[in-house]
Order: sequence, then structure tokens, then C-alpha cells
Amino acid sequence: MVLAYPWVGPGMDRVDGRAKVTGAAKYTADFLAGAQGRGTLQAVLVGSAIARGRVVEIDAGEAWRMPGVASILTHENMPRLGKLDADDEQGTPGQVRLPLQTAEVEHVGEYVAMVIAETLERAEAAAARIRIRYEEKQGWTWNAEAGEVTGREYRPKEVGRGDEADSERGDGPGAVAAAAVQVRERYLMGQENHNPMEMSATVAAWEQVGGEERLTVYSATQHVYGCRHVIARALGLEDRQVRVICPFVGGAFGCKGSTWPHEYLAAAAAKVVGRPVKVVLSRRQMFTGCGCRPELLQRVSLGAEPGGRLAGMVHDAVNHTAASDEWAEPAAVQTRMIYSCANVKTTHRLVPVHRNNPTQMRAPGHAPGTWALEAAMDELAWKAGIDPIELRLRNDAERDEELDKPWSSKSLRECYRAAAERFGWERYQQRVGAMREGRTLIGWGMATALYPTNREGAHARVKLLPDGTAVVISATHDLGTGTYTIMTQVAAEALGLPVESVVFLLGDTDMPESPVAGGSQSAASVGTAVRTTCEAARRKLFEEAHAGDGETTEQVLRRHGKVVEAEGKAGPPEKQSHSAYAFGAQFAEVRIDAALREVRVSRAVGAFAAGRILNEKTARSQLMGGMVMGVGMALMEHTAYDRRRLKVVTDNLADYLVPVNPDVPAVEVILVPEEDRQVNEIGAKGIGELGTTGIAAAITNAIYHATGVRVRELPATLDKIM
Ligand code: MOS
Repeated sequence: MVLAYPWVGPGMDRVDGRAKVTGAAKYTADFLAGAQGRGTLQAVLVGSAIARGRVVEIDAGEAWRMPGVASILTHENMPRLGKLDADDEQGTPGQVRLPLQTAEVEHVGEYVAMVIAETLERAEAAAARIRIRYEEKQGWTWNAEAGEVTGREYRPKEVGRGDEADSERGDGPGAVAAAAVQVRERYLMGQENHNPMEMSATVAAWEQVGGEERLTVYSATQHVYGCRHVIARALGLEDRQVRVICPFVGGAFGCKGSTWPHEYLAAAAAKVVGRPVKVVLSRRQMFTGCGCRPELLQRVSLGAEPGGRLAGMVHDAVNHTAASDEWAEPAAVQTRMIYSCANVKTTHRLVPVHRNNPTQMRAPGHAPGTWALEAAMDELAWKAGIDPIELRLRNDAERDEELDKPWSSKSLRECYRAAAERFGWERYQQRVGAMREGRTLIGWGMATALYPTNREGAHARVKLLPDGTAVVISATHDLGTGTYTIMTQVAAEALGLPVESVVFLLGDTDMPESPVAGGSQSAASVGTAVRTTCEAARRKLFEEAHAGDGETTEQVLRRHGKVVEAEGKAGPPEKQSHSAYAFGAQFAEVRIDAALREVRVSRAVGAFAAGRILNEKTARSQLMGGMVMGVGMALMEHTAYDRRRLKVVTDNLADYLVPVNPDVPAVEVILVPEEDRQVNEIGAKGIGELGTTGIAAAITNAIYHATGVRVRELPATLDKIM
């Protein structure tokens, strides 16, 4: 089919942009608010003050007598919840441990009471008057930031969402030990938290429909179907009895990718009080109630021939996990395939502690993993006296050596070239302090970026209307990433209609199922379903209406005068003959005051190749956002943890620092053209997480170039560069 309207590709403004800037876009906490929400109660969750032990007494007498209090739920009177399953394919719980079911607590912030009142203020006031007595036990702890070894490390069943914990190809340790040039270093990171602008929130309302209970849930989620399933499990309902709605998400970064306790607790509370209940986590609760990136200890050993060819690689990652739950950060997985090397060994281990369970966050595994690996590659480049780009080119993998498959496409060399040229790398000298302006030390660094192209099955439904317009729906999500816009473009192109004539709707389990908007997979998964379903709808219309050759879709629709509908599924490819990744190259310049040692990223250039770019404007914006998060990871973000009291100290946005405009003066994104006919029908790889890989290493490598200090502990605050 020759398409008359090449909508896909060029920058197009967000179709939801006006709704967002005028306040018309409704986020979760906006539902059942004001007059429309009369009768909706507000819930406040009370978190445990201790990390491990039991609640021995809850004195809620005064709180119960406060005006406007409808109920107070504790482990003593909260309805019993159904068991959750960590391996459930239909919906992922952030933790299987259910709060408010026993007197035991396993982390600070674990919910021990829930106050439901007429207003938020009344609920908060009553919550403040609940007195809880605990019997405290010594909680398990671990200091990854100090490189501590506890002896409690264990091997998880899998890492991330389904990768093997360990891998071995050839003899990694032996090859490193025998190599002419060797690097053996340890890379340490504390906890990080997602901190999207929109706090996690849930509004739940029950009703009877035909003698059956129905539950409507508005929840800030990256996966409406998964959220529905987990809530149904927890409340002992069939999935079809629950509807989850989420038209807008104010950022997520992984913390809304799985379903967390506040979501089913809101539904349980609404049932108890017989009225709709709304709960919005506080910023403080965002640090304990919806995951984090774990503390992470990585050991990387690299061995190379004098010419820089990698002989052996070893990457071991250890992260903290909850005492009764498991999240394994897949930090070493990219080391299995990123470069050509015959001898590679990787391992992942977990240390259980009494803290809330970590989860996927902003390129889980790959963001911290590329920091450690690409920092070690820089150390290798300096030891071998080879330009860091040249070192990577000499070790470029022409196929995926781990899976032993060809790449679906790979434009990494072009990414290095394009970013280096734009950055001005030809002036790079591999000498500490090579550049200086007065008292400002200047350093340059670079690193490789990459992220796998994931894909899951997705569904879409199309309705073509006699007025020449179309409505396309799929229960996917827009986290601020641009899904509304790119799906409108994909649909318009496949239908042969102008974008103005297409409306795309998402975020509701009454719509056809789509997968979690995580792992950078929505464009590829949902885009394919939208495209193939729209093509089928157009074919159906043209057949039904006996359309002539020269007719446009709009003309046929108007002449036909009837509604034409189609529904379709695009599954993941059955057997993948190719290995699919998006690649990129990150370059950074830092400026450091020679005396004060404060680091500023003055420039960053990233070049990325991710197959077909559906919308240059939203793609650039997402990749830039990822690079900015990398600046945060490298220099600022740190969830400081008090290891005596076993609690987070920096649980607010005044103490948990994220980059703001003056911190990122110049970020440039280059979109390297890439055509991929293997990866999927629309040729698009994911870009959601790609931009935040590699960038932290580019920055710490630049710090070394400027100062001669290797920062192997993030964030690279000035005390580490003295
Ligand atoms: Mo992404 S961390 O899978 O939301």
C-alpha cells in the first residue's frame, strides 16, 4: 500500500499538549474530586516507625473520636486479602508481602494503619493522633556504599524480568588474569528513587451491577491491565469485575510499572466504608511505598591485549532486596553482549534487608550497569593508551555473541562518529588536566549507550466513521512520553487519513489489552497492533465500499456512509532470529572549579539509533530527558539511608536532589537514521530508557580527564573529588 500521508517521522506537537497546559487533562487524583466526587472519602496511610518487629498496641481511640473520621483500619480489622504471586504473568505486584494483615512489620514505612475521613485534612489530623507501640527486633542491614560483604548474598532465580542470574562464556577470570592490560575495580551506588512529579494515587469506588459487585479504580499506573489483575487477586474478585482507568500519568520511571499496596488497600477500604476512597501517597511515602533503585555493588574486571582487544570480562553485581520480596537489578546483563569478547562471566547476587522492595527504575540494570562497565572501559583505555572511542571500535561486536545471533540492525559506529563530530572530539587529548581555563578544570568523557528492544503482544480496535474520521483505542499508557501522539500518527498513516481526523484513546481496561508501558516497549508493541489493525480496517472499508483506485480513505468513508470496525492483535514474534537493541553514544564535558571541586556538566551530546523514529520531537524530548536523568545519577541523586535507624533520611525533594535547568545547560540529541526490517512491522525500537544509559559513565570519565580522580561511588559529589 502506498501511503499518501507520510505523517510518521517529522516532529509533531503533542495531541494532548493543549489539554495538559490548560489543566483539562485529568490525572488520577483529579478523579472524583470537587462536586463530582461528593461522597468520596480521603484515606491517609500511616507507616511503621520501625524496620523490623511487631505492632503490640495501636491506640486509635482519640483518632476515632476526631470529627469526620469514617474508619480506621489496622491489621486487627482490615479484611483479609488474597495472596499475590510474584511470577504472575498477568500482573506484577511490586511486592507480594501484604501489609495490614499481621502485627509483623518488615520495613520503615510499611503501612500499619489507614485512616479514612471526610477530607484529607481530617484524615491527616486523625492519623497524627494514632499512638503505636512496637516490639522492635534488630533488622538486617547492608552497606553497599561501603562495599560491605555480609555473607548473606544469595543467587536469585532470575534478574530483572526474566534474565539469567549468571552467565559464562569461555573463561572470563582466567583471561583477565592472563591479559597484558588489566582493570579490576569496584563501583558503588546508594539507593535512588524515581520521584516523578505525580505522586502515586488511587481512587476506588464499588457498585452493584445486576447482583454482582463491580469495582472501578482510577490509579496512576503504567499498566492498567496488570493493576486490575493484582487488585482482583488481592480482593478475591474476577478480573472482569474490576475496571482500571488511567488516561494521564505525571511521570513514572518504573515506580508505577507494578502494582503496590496502596492500590488494593484503597479498594479494600472503599468496601469497608461503603463509599469511594481516594489515597494519594505523600512525597515521603514515595520513598517507601513504590520501589526504588537498590543499593548496588558492582565489581568489573577487564583484561585486554596491548592493542586493546578485550580478552576477558567479569562483571558481578550485588543489590539489596526486601526481606520477604525480591528485586534483582540486572546490572551485568549488558556485559554479556555489548562488546566482542570470547571470555565473559557475569553474576548477580542479592542481600535481603529490612527495607521496602526495590523495583525497575529508569533503565533498570542498564543505567547503573553501563556506568560501571563504561567507567571500567575508560580506565582500560587510559591504561592501554588508546583513545576511548578507538578502544570501543576495536571491540565492536558484529553479532550478539551471547545469543549467537545477528543484530536486527546496529548503527553504533555511526553514533560514535556523529556524536564525536558534533562534540569536537578531534581535539581530545588523553592527558589529565589537558584543558583548563583559569581556575576551571575541563574534562571530556564518552561512553556507549544501549537498551534491548522489547516487545509484548498488544491489541487495538478501530472505528471508521462516515464523517471521514476514525477512533482508535488500546489500553496503553502515556507517561508523558508521547504515546497519544505517536499512536495517532501511526494510525493516521495506516488509515490514510490526516492526523486531525484521528482520535487515539488509551488507559482503560474497557479497551483492548496492551502490555505494561515499561522496558521501552510501547511504541514497538502497541504501534504494531495499531498499525496492523488500522490496515485491516482500511482494507475492510475499501472492499465493502468497492473503492476505486483514486479514492482517498476520507472519500470512501463519506460515500460508504456506514461505520466500519476492526479489532486486532499483534503478538510478539514467535521465534526471534535476530538480537535487537537500540544503541547510542554519549559524550559529556565537565567544568570543575580547581579549588572547590564542584562539578558542572557544561555540555552533553548523545547520538542514538533506534530504528524508525515515529516522531522526532517527542523522541528528542525523551532522549534528552534520559540524559538529564543521567546527570542526576552521576552528580546528585542519592537516597541517603540511616543504617542505625534503618530509614531513609532524604525523603523529600529538598534533600533528594534532581537536576534543574541550570544543571543542564546544553544537551544535544542526534537521531541517527536507521532502517530495521527485522525488529517489527513498524521498524521502531524503543527509546524510553536508551537515553539514560551510558551518560553517567561519560560524566565520571570526564571528571577523571579533568582531575585525575576516578570516582567509583555515585553520586560524584565534591567530597569524592578532593
Ligand atoms: Mo521503565 S523503569 O521499565 O518504567
